Amino acid sequence: MSRSRLLSLALLACTLHAAHPVRARKAMVVAQEPHATDAGVAVLQSGGNAIDAAVAVGFALAVTHPTAGNLGGGGFLLLRKSTGETTFLDFRERAPAKATRNMYLDDKGNLTRDSLEGWRAAGVPGTVHGLALAHQKYGSKPWAELLAPAIKLAKGFPVTYSVSKSLQNSELLAKFPESRRIFQRNGRFYEPDELLIQPELGRTLERIAKHGPRDFYEGETAKKFAAEMAANGGLITLEDLKNYRTAERKPLTGAYRGYDIITAPPPSSGGLGILHIMGILESSGYTAHGAGSAAAIHYVAEAMRRYYADRAEYLADPDFVKVPVSGLLNKQYIAARKATIDPARASSSDSIRQGKPPANESTETTHFSIIDAQGNSVALTYTLNGSYGNGVTVPGLGFLLNNEMDDFSAKPGEPNMFGLVQGEANAIQPGKRPLSSMTPTIILKDGKLFMVVGAPGGSRIITGVLQVILNVIDFGMNAQDAVDAPRFHHQWQPDKLSLERGFSPDTIELLKSRGHTVDSISSVANVEAIVVQKDGWLSGGTDPRSHGKAAGY
Ligand code: GLY
Repeated sequence: MSRSRLLSLALLACTLHAAHPVRARKAMVVAQEPHATDAGVAVLQSGGNAIDAAVAVGFALAVTHPTAGNLGGGGFLLLRKSTGETTFLDFRERAPAKATRNMYLDDKGNLTRDSLEGWRAAGVPGTVHGLALAHQKYGSKPWAELLAPAIKLAKGFPVTYSVSKSLQNSELLAKFPESRRIFQRNGRFYEPDELLIQPELGRTLERIAKHGPRDFYEGETAKKFAAEMAANGGLITLEDLKNYRTAERKPLTGAYRGYDIITAPPPSSGGLGILHIMGILESSGYTAHGAGSAAAIHYVAEAMRRYYADRAEYLADPDFVKVPVSGLLNKQYIAARKATIDPARASSSDSIRQGKPPANESTETTHFSIIDAQGNSVALTYTLNGSYGNGVTVPGLGFLLNNEMDDFSAKPGEPNMFGLVQGEANAIQPGKRPLSSMTPTIILKDGKLFMVVGAPGGSRIITGVLQVILNVIDFGMNAQDAVDAPRFHHQWQPDKLSLERGFSPDTIELLKSRGHTVDSISSVANVEAIVVQKDGWLSGGTDPRSHGKAAGY
C-alpha cells in the first residue's frame, strides 16, 4: 500500500472518531469560563466587534476565573481586522523602578520564594491599560457597556464544582488575609452553586467603567493600590503605575505549508518558537508516521529541545535586549539545527547548546479566541502567572496581583517555577518586561482567516499551541479533535519528554527505546481554538483539560 494511501487511512481513522466542535455561522467566542464566553457572545450579537467582545470577556474573566483572569496582571492581544490590518498589543507587566537584578537572592546568593509569593513578586499590571488602548483604537461600543457584564458578575455568580474545589484547595490564597476572606470566606468554603460575591472588585470595576484606565493608573484605585504596596513592603509605586504604557508592536509573521502564520513577537518567546519549530518540521517528512506515533513525537520533541536551548540564551524584552529574531528564523540556521536531529535517537540536552543564529539584519494564564461577524479576529492571552498570581488580593480593591517577576531569570542559569532555565538576557531590570511564552496566533489560508488559537500553560504554551496547529494543518483534524488529542512537551532543560495521558504503552516504550527520559504530566497547556471551515462556518474547540465554553451565533 502506498504511503499516501496509508496516511489517508490514518486520517480517515481520525475523522471516524471525530468529536464535534461547536459550530456557528457568523461569530464565535471560545474562552476558559462559560460566563465570560456568554458575555462576549452577547456583545457580538448586539453589534459589537471582536475587540469589544475581547474587552467584555477580559473583564468578565477577572471576576469569574480568579486563577488567571485579572486586573492585576498582564498579557498580549493579537488583532487581525477584516481588512487584513494586524497589530499586537503588549500589555505585559513591567518590573517596578525599584526592582534590582538580585532582588530575589538571599545574602548567600540563593533564590528566595519572593518572586513567587507575596507583594514583592508583582510586576506593574498592564491588563486595564491594554484593554483600554485596544478599545480606544479599535473598539466600537461604549467602554462602560463592555464592563457592565463584569460588574454584574461581581454582584454574584454561582461557582462551579471545579472553582469551588480550586478555591478551597489553594494554600496560597490561605496565606494572605484578604484573599482568604474573599475567596475562602475564612474557612467557610464556597460550595458548588453558591454565589461568589465580590463587592470590592465590583466597586473597582465601576470606577474603571466611569473614569476609564486613569482610575487604575492615577486615580482612586491607583492611590489605594500604591499605599497598600508601600504598607506591605511591595515595590510598585504610584509613579510606576502612572508610567505604565502598553507597547503596540508589529506581529511576527511566517509561513508553514501554504498557511500564513501571524503570531506574538518578543517579549513573547512563543511566536518565534512555533515558527522556528515549524521551520524544522516543514520538509522533515515527520507527518508520514502519523499523528501520535512515536516517530512523529520524537522528531517534534527534538525540534522543541533545540528551540528551548536558544530561547534560554537569546529571548527577552526587545526594548532592552537585541533579540536575534530573523537569525532564529534564518533558513540556513534552521537547516543547521535540523541537521543535528537523529530521527532514530534522542539527543541529550547537555550536548545541545544554543546555536549561533546569524545577527539580525536589522501555571496559570488564560486565553480566548474571538471572530466577529465582519471577520475581525482577536487572540488574547493574559495572566497572573501562577494560579492566583502572588496570592495577594489588594485590600479594599478586590483584585489579585501577579507573580510575573518569576518569569525573569531571577538567577540566570537556575530554573524558575516552570523549570525553565533562562539566561542573562532576561535578567531583571527596572521597567523591563519579563520573557513570556504566551502565543496568541492567527492563521490565514490563501489570504483568508483560517484559525485563531492560543493557550495558558506557562512554558508549555508554545508546545501546546504548536501541536494543535499541527493537528489541524498536518493531520487534518477538526478544531475539537485537534484540541482534545493528547500532547507532549520538551523544553530542553530538564532533559525529559513529558507526556499527557492518552499515549499507548507501546508508544511510550518506543520513545524510551529511542533514548528519551519520559515522564507524565497532567496537561500541556489549555488550548482554545476557532477554525474557519471550507464552507465558511466557524468551528470552535474548547479544551477539555479546562472548563471553558465555545459559543456563537
Ligand atoms: N506567565 C507565563 C508566561 O507569560 O509565559
